[in-house]
Amino acid sequence: MSRLDSMINRLVAQRQILNHAAALIQKVPGPALELGLGNGRTFDHLREILPDREIFVFERKITASPRSIPDADHVILGEIRDTLPFSGSRIGGAAALIHADLSNGDPTDDLARRAWLSPMIMARAGAGTVVLSGHELDLADFERLSLPEGIREGRYYLYRKQ
Ligand SMILES: C[S@@+](CC[C@H](N)C(=O)[O-])C[C@H]1O[C@@H](n2cnc3c(N)ncnc32)[C@H](O)[C@@H]1O
Repeated sequence: MSRLDSMINRLVAQRQILNHAAALIQKVPGPALELGLGNGRTFDHLREILPDREIFVFERKITASPRSIPDADHVILGEIRDTLPFSGSRIGGAAALIHADLSNGDPTDDLARRAWLSPMIMARAGAGTVVLSGHELDLADFERLSLPEGIREGRYYLYRKQ
């Protein structure tokens, strides 16, 4: 498969899984957390499909298109490892949805991130919180949900707190 095909598949899967997650959290209170703004594509999609939710974005360096940058109250700038554990007072209660799109494709980096990020995500979750991640996480008291039809296993990971 060419890299172009792979990128197209990834973007289609991302849209499908974000839409699926938005439906899953319909009755779950709380904001959405976007871990990794990047160029703002998935943030922009989230705000379109979750128009009534607050969305907090965590990013070390803003490089997104100016049209896809949230207002200053909803940007938490810095290393997620430093900011996420201390973001509770800013974001309020447990998040309804947490989307982690942080991978640079390096498997060792993914393993290291999985170790430090998993407990930080658990600390921001409550009953019914849905977590989507580009790499696997170790989330105690979460069930692993199957992906929407047509998304290859391992392309994304979907969890829900019991
Ligand atoms: C793959 S991109 C996100 C793409 C985004 N979902 C989109 O649709 O445009 C990952 C982003 O996460 C940020 N990032 C990765 N690790 C981070 C960390 N430890 N702390 C803060 N930001 C991080 C990178 O700077 C990058 O902008």
